[in-house]
Amino acid sequence: MNVLLAGGAGYIGSHTCVELIEAGHSVIIADNFANSCPEAVRRVEEITGKKIPLYEADVCDSAAVDKIFSENKIDAVIHFAGLKAVGESVEKPLMYYRNNIDSTLTLLEVMKKYRVNNFIFSSSATVYGVPKTVPLVETMPTGSPTNPYGWTKLMMEQILTDTAHANPEMSIVILRYFNPIGAHKSGRIGEDPNGIPNNLMPYITQVAAGRLPCLGVFGDDYPTRDGTGVRDYIHVVDLAKGHVKAIDYSGAHKGVEIVNLGTGTGYSVLEIVKAFEKVNNLTISYEIKPRRAGDVAECYADAGKAERVLGWKAEKNLEDMCYDAWKWQSKNVNGYK
Ligand code: NAD
Ligand code: UD1
Repeated sequence: MNVLLAGGAGYIGSHTCVELIEAGHSVIIADNFANSCPEAVRRVEEITGKKIPLYEADVCDSAAVDKIFSENKIDAVIHFAGLKAVGESVEKPLMYYRNNIDSTLTLLEVMKKYRVNNFIFSSSATVYGVPKTVPLVETMPTGSPTNPYGWTKLMMEQILTDTAHANPEMSIVILRYFNPIGAHKSGRIGEDPNGIPNNLMPYITQVAAGRLPCLGVFGDDYPTRDGTGVRDYIHVVDLAKGHVKAIDYSGAHKGVEIVNLGTGTGYSVLEIVKAFEKVNNLTISYEIKPRRAGDVAECYADAGKAERVLGWKAEKNLEDMCYDAWKWQSKNVNGYK
């Protein structure tokens, strides 16, 4: 298929690009580089040996998106183009609602005009809110997200569900990601956050690289094995492969399908720190800090539906994630810069 990757220069998009090309698909990228750079796409070209059509475009801009559809035969769209910093979304909610929701509406409207019916969406485990029980199953009611970023994901899930109901020709796959970490095995592409990282693994790798002095562990009094928060960390290459399966599935499916992409196993913050230290033979200094507002004790997936419906399951383990994350950071101390 010819797949348009909106936000394809970003962390998950660039890895998905590699896996789609290796599976024989063609890709086109549209990105405004709000949180990425063209160098990531150049490196995907280097890994795959393929030239990738790249549009510098804001996908909220109908005319710019229309131009892409008029110049290319597109069979499916994967929509990664969102702003994702939770704290920033609390400070700038309008920017988050405008960008994340407008981009979705614009893509859907232009797809309707060009009769493109296959849409894959990057959602998040954040839509479950505060879990009453774990593992999280897709049939559980969604909760109340603790921030505007999470609300945009929940609202977009509703918009997509309504859109699929209104157009029986559409196939919409909503992928609820758990915690993607790690990088491509080449060490050429990886996660390159702007400023001080909010997420755990990039913070750890930047401490290891000497860019940050010490990791703050947010709370050690949760009702978990060692008191620190438990999450379902998934290797970004496994996650990317889940998109290839979703693209294959969407070709023969109509309606809306919601699928968790996680491993089904939770690890605590201290388990991640210890695994990272062991695999990479490094020491990470850390100190226990107060809990972070909005954090939950435990969040991990029931990954059964992905296997049943998409024929996908995560293959890489925590050691692979820690090894590849450090390979990327150590070879690119300042990211793509
Ligand atoms: P990322 O910031 O690396 O990638 C998003 C890309 O979209 C960036 O390249 C950015 O420049 C681009 N973009 C943003 N707004 C745009 C617009 N209006 N027009 C064109 N391009 C635009 O983030 P990521 O980690 O690769 O995440 C991809 C998607 O997955 C996002 O929607 C995010 O919310 C979602 N998600 C990510 C995680 C995670 O932990 N990384 C977890 C759950 C869901
Ligand atoms: C966070 C977001 C979530 C978003 C996801 C991907 C919050 C509350 N949740 O998920 O909405 O979809 O990122 O962008 O922000 N931790 C530390 N020290 C750190 C960083 C994190 O101890 O410096 C801990 C956290 O408390 C948590 C775990 O590490 O227990 C994972 O945190 P993080 O990587 O930020 O992911 P989530 O909070 O699960």
